[in-house]
Amino acid sequence: MSNFGNDVQFSVYQTMQNPNPNRLPVVYEEWEKSAREALDDGPFYYVAGGAGGERTMKANLQAFDRWKIVPRMLRNVEDRDLTVELFGKTYNFPVLHAPIGVQSIIHEEGDLGSARACAKMGVPFIASSASTAPMEKIAEVMGDAPRWFQLYWSKDPDVTASFLKRAEASGYSAIVVTLDTPMMAWREYDLKNVYLPFLIGEGVGNYLTDPAFCAKLEKSPKEDPTAAIMHWTQVFGNASLTWDDIAFLRKHTKLPILVKGILHPDDAKLAINHGVDGIIVSNHGGRQVDGALGALEALPLVKEVVQDQIPVLMDSGIRRGSDIIKALALGAKAVLVGRPCMYGLATAGEKGVKEVLQNMVADLDITMALAGERSVRNLSKSMLTDTK
Ligand code: FNR
Repeated sequence: MSNFGNDVQFSVYQTMQNPNPNRLPVVYEEWEKSAREALDDGPFYYVAGGAGGERTMKANLQAFDRWKIVPRMLRNVEDRDLTVELFGKTYNFPVLHAPIGVQSIIHEEGDLGSARACAKMGVPFIASSASTAPMEKIAEVMGDAPRWFQLYWSKDPDVTASFLKRAEASGYSAIVVTLDTPMMAWREYDLKNVYLPFLIGEGVGNYLTDPAFCAKLEKSPKEDPTAAIMHWTQVFGNASLTWDDIAFLRKHTKLPILVKGILHPDDAKLAINHGVDGIIVSNHGGRQVDGALGALEALPLVKEVVQDQIPVLMDSGIRRGSDIIKALALGAKAVLVGRPCMYGLATAGEKGVKEVLQNMVADLDITMALAGERSVRNLSKSMLTDTK
């Protein structure tokens, strides 16, 4: 039980007589603006942009507006419980840091800065296959703090198996397999800016340090970095996979396996039938299929078929505490935060990511209390009204 939100709120107001000259933003739109100021066009649009005409990105945000919270009164909300249980572990908050690749283009601290911020908050960091720092380095800066590993399923099965083995050996406690990215989407801004950071050696840290990947090269990545990156372009994605291939992952890891990028209820059924341990409803922040449905629209449809058989998480459009409340009320056990953390990273490195996460959890806590709820575990659809 805690008063997390009130503590954060008071720590801010207490500085009223003595203002902090290095104050970071609070307003989401101001974080985004300060990231825009900090970054060149290439990296900024790589983060802020989406697929095609960005209609899915818009749908993600609109989906949250459709649902309204109906607050209840006189329900003793003095102390709240923000903890959740996932795969036998208790986490401080129903919030995880989404897997985000190439964070080195956003700030010099890159993935390590974000990982350290998460460790300080007790927010699980989902390290991306496309991190610039190798997963072992990320694990090292996190100590015992919770972390999951996101797998981009390579065309080379040896690389996939090796990634799983390395993740297990370096203390990651779950595998998030991203299914919506067998290839790069049609991203208008990246094409306009001629910007694909992997080609300049960003976001390939796990590959260039991988024994299975390096075994296929004629010369080491140090001796011939260009050939190594060209090989990466050949093996990164795998568009030939089918549901039966899930058995390959199961064979190579004992960790819980979550599939990320599920939007269709039939895919949720298939995921369960193929023995996955969790589902992440997501459209990759509108970065893959333009004109897709908002992730929050898909959530209740997926939840209806999954029920409580396995945990359902969601991302794509989480910006504020009330968004988290809506996602949990519609059946998510926890949410992943993506772009807000990246705007924090661009603005102030580790400190920025920590501030974004802390504020988001504080907002969640206070808004939940004001809506008349005491525990993130008890939120249900009955606290919402559908205004569609
Ligand atoms: C991503 N995302 C992502 N997902 C993943 O599984 N592996 C990855 O490497 C990346 N990389 C990545 C880079 C950038 C710059 C962004 C913005 C996103 C998707 C991410 O995990 C998450 O699904 C979205 O960020 C959610 O959308 P919002 O809420 O950030 O808009």
